[in-house]
Amino acid sequence: MGYLKYDISGLNFNPNNLEKEITKIKKTLEINKKNMPFLSCFSTRVKKIKETLRRFKMDFDNMFVIGIGGSSLGIQAIYEAIHGKYKIGGRKLYFLENIDPFNIHQIFQNAPWDRTVYCVISKSGKTLETISIMNLVLHEMKRRGFRDLNRRFIFISGENTPLHKLSKELNAPFFQIPKSIGGRFSVLTPVGLVPSEFVDIDPYALLGGAMETVEEIIREPLHPSLVSVFTQYINYKDGRNIAVLMPYSDSLRKFSDWWVQLWAESLGKDGKGQTPLPAVGTVDQHSLLQLFIDGPDDKFYQFIKLKSYGSNFVLPEKTEILDFIGGKTVSEIVHAEFEGTVESLKMKKRPMCTIEIDRITPEAIGALFIVFMIKTAIMAHLIGVNPYGQPGVEIGKKIAKEKLGGS
Ligand code: PA5
Repeated sequence: MGYLKYDISGLNFNPNNLEKEITKIKKTLEINKKNMPFLSCFSTRVKKIKETLRRFKMDFDNMFVIGIGGSSLGIQAIYEAIHGKYKIGGRKLYFLENIDPFNIHQIFQNAPWDRTVYCVISKSGKTLETISIMNLVLHEMKRRGFRDLNRRFIFISGENTPLHKLSKELNAPFFQIPKSIGGRFSVLTPVGLVPSEFVDIDPYALLGGAMETVEEIIREPLHPSLVSVFTQYINYKDGRNIAVLMPYSDSLRKFSDWWVQLWAESLGKDGKGQTPLPAVGTVDQHSLLQLFIDGPDDKFYQFIKLKSYGSNFVLPEKTEILDFIGGKTVSEIVHAEFEGTVESLKMKKRPMCTIEIDRITPEAIGALFIVFMIKTAIMAHLIGVNPYGQPGVEIGKKIAKEKLGGS
C-alpha cells in the first residue's frame, strides 16, 4: 500500500503534541478542492485526450512543447522520469521553453518539420516568450507551405484567452486548463497529460497514483507527508531558510526543477519563504555536500531514494582498481553513497525527510507531484501566505511588455 515511504528526522517538538498539531492543520486546511484547487485535476477528461491524440500519435514522431514555467516544467519532469534523458526510438518530446535565440536557431535548422506536432501551452494565453516562439513557428510553417495547420497544432490554455481564440481560428484541437488551477499546480491537467499521452505515459496511471495518495493522506490521521511538512515548518521557524531536494536519480533532476518553481513562486511572498535548492545524488556529493555538512545549519534536507532503478549492472568479480567493488551491483554502490550522505548529515544532527519509492512508475510520479503540491499548500498556510498568486513575477512581466511597447 502507498507509493511513497517516509523517514523523517529533526523534529524538535514534543511528540505528544504532534498529533494535536497535525489534526489542527487538517481541520483548518481541509484537503479538498476548495482549499487546494489543484485537486480539481481529477475531473480531467482523459478519454477526450486519448481520442484526440490517437491521430497525432499515428501521424507524428515528435511533439515540440511550446510553454514556460508551470506550462513546461511539469511535463519535462514526467518525460524525463519515465523515459530518462536519452530516449532512443519511438515518439519524443522536445521543449521550446526559453526564449534563447541560439536554441531557436538550432531547432529551426534541425527540426523535422513534417514529422512534428506543436503543442502550445499557456494558461494566460499571452505569455511573451511562449507567444513569440509560437509566432515564429507558425510563420515558418506557413513559409514552408504547410496548409493543414489544424492537424499540426494542439493548444492548451484558459478559456477565452488569445490562445483559445487562435485555436478556434485555426480549427485546431483545444484543451482547457481549469480556471481555478494556477500554472505551477497544473501538471496533472491537460498541461501534463496531453504530451504524456503522446509518448505513451498513461494519464490514468499518473492521476491514479495521485488520487490514491490523496485518499491515503485524508484517511491516515498522522500521515507522514503531513509530519514532514510540519517538521519543515518548525525548522523554517528555527531559521532554516533553505530547503534542499536531492533525488538519488538522474531521471528525477527535472522533478526537482519543477519543485523549485512550485516552492519558490508559491511561498516567496511578504518577506517570507524558504529558498529551494535542487541537488542530485550522487553527483552533488562531490560538490554541495561539503557545504551541507560543514557549512551553516540553515537547511532542511529532502531526499528521494529509489529502491530499484528498473535495471542493474553487476561489476566483474575481479576489478582492475578498487577490489572491494568486485561483484557488487551499481545499485549497491548508489545506495552505499546515499547512506554515506544521510549518515554524515545525521551525525551533524541536520533535519531531513527521505521519501523512498520502490521504482519510478507513472503512478509513483503522480503520487510525488500531489504530495509536493499538498505540502506547498500546507506550508503556505503555516507561514501565512497565499500560495496561488505570483505578484512579483507579474511586475517583471509587465515591465518587459512595456519596454517592448505593449501593455
Ligand atoms: O505558476 C505560474 O502561474 C507561472 O509560473 C506560469 O506557469 C508561467 O508564468 C507561464 O504562464 P502561462 O502558462 O500563462 O504562459
